[in-house]
Amino acid sequence: MPCFGNGRTKDPHSCEDHRPTCRGPAPQGRLPGPRPAPYVPAQHPRPDQPQRQSLQRFTYGELHAATYGFSERRVVGEGGFGYVYWGRLRSGVHVAVKRLDRRGQQGDREFNVEVDMLTRLHHPNLITLLGVCVEDDHRAAVFQLMHGGCLRGALDAGMATEPVTSTAHFLPRHPLCWTARLNAAVGAAAGLAFLHEEARPSILHRDVKSTNILLDEADCACIGDLGLARSAAVAPHRHGSHAETLNGTFGYLAPEYMLNGQHSHKSDVYAFGVVLLELLTGQQPVDPMRRSAPSLVQHMLPHLCSIDRAQAHLDPVICREPISVPQLVIFLDITAACLLERPQNRPTMTTAAQPQHVTYTAAS
Ligand SMILES: Nc1ncnc2c1ncn2[C@@H]1O[C@H](COP(=O)(O)OP(=O)(O)O)[C@@H](O)[C@H]1O
Ligand SMILES: [Mg+2]
Repeated sequence: MPCFGNGRTKDPHSCEDHRPTCRGPAPQGRLPGPRPAPYVPAQHPRPDQPQRQSLQRFTYGELHAATYGFSERRVVGEGGFGYVYWGRLRSGVHVAVKRLDRRGQQGDREFNVEVDMLTRLHHPNLITLLGVCVEDDHRAAVFQLMHGGCLRGALDAGMATEPVTSTAHFLPRHPLCWTARLNAAVGAAAGLAFLHEEARPSILHRDVKSTNILLDEADCACIGDLGLARSAAVAPHRHGSHAETLNGTFGYLAPEYMLNGQHSHKSDVYAFGVVLLELLTGQQPVDPMRRSAPSLVQHMLPHLCSIDRAQAHLDPVICREPISVPQLVIFLDITAACLLERPQNRPTMTTAAQPQHVTYTAAS
């Protein structure tokens, strides 16, 4: 996986200048930064031979003991249908236990979809499902524990003046440096590219957002929360064809999805573009208090075509360190390309993860 490290050295001042050109092979060098977070290339089983592994079965008692009785102090996150707890199994292995507290059609469906998908899909940038608990009325999924918590939490921790230790971040959290943000972007892109282009059948995630991207102790990123994921082969109208059935999260929804309710690979790409904006600015995708526009996309789009304008809106945390201008230019190019209005003009997820191949189509 190439890094975001190749590009023009000139400082572009116009949208025209800003369009990337073909860029030759990506360099292997890294940005100077306080905490290099090496990207680990994918070493996964052949995707055309999905392996259905037998899942470990946990009893309710085991998970109850592992999480100190599902103690509030062990909560590391909250989802739509319950809490996620940090647990320690009797074997000593640390895990994340996602408990389905609010049973109901939608919650049960998402639980089953996530378990089913993660039982057969394996990739270094996809969260690992270790097992499940299905006992009486209890439902829980047991995952590899991601010590860095979710990407949004890591960005928010950067707002604090001191390292943060909380139940949500059980490792003291330092602000996420620029290099770590690049690696998080590349890791998340690799996970999504795997779902889109290597998994068989191809999978749409349908809820790409910074709280569904998880970081390990080295800040390597994994895609999580596949509860809304669907096979891309399912007829689009069955993904929800009416505004009343809109799935996903406001702030991340692609314009065409808002209009016709049809998800596609390119609506995932759009949501990934919003995550890139969060990495750049540290800001929330929707903030009613933001004066220019509550939507981060609306706020930032006018600034993506000029490095000077974009630099004025970077997360102050990353402005404290040296940032390579060519890398930033590529990052801006990819972000702008992912957020193009017409889905057909957006890059594929694999292309977005390989910046030298991006052809930025400004017309949309
Ligand atoms: N494996 C994990 N390791 C650490 N934290 C996790 C893990 N899985 C989930 N979390 C935390 O719990 C939150 C909710 O989990 P998620 O899978 O997104 O649930 P939901 O489907 O209900 O949205 C995440 O945003 C994250 O903060
Ligand atoms: Mg979630």
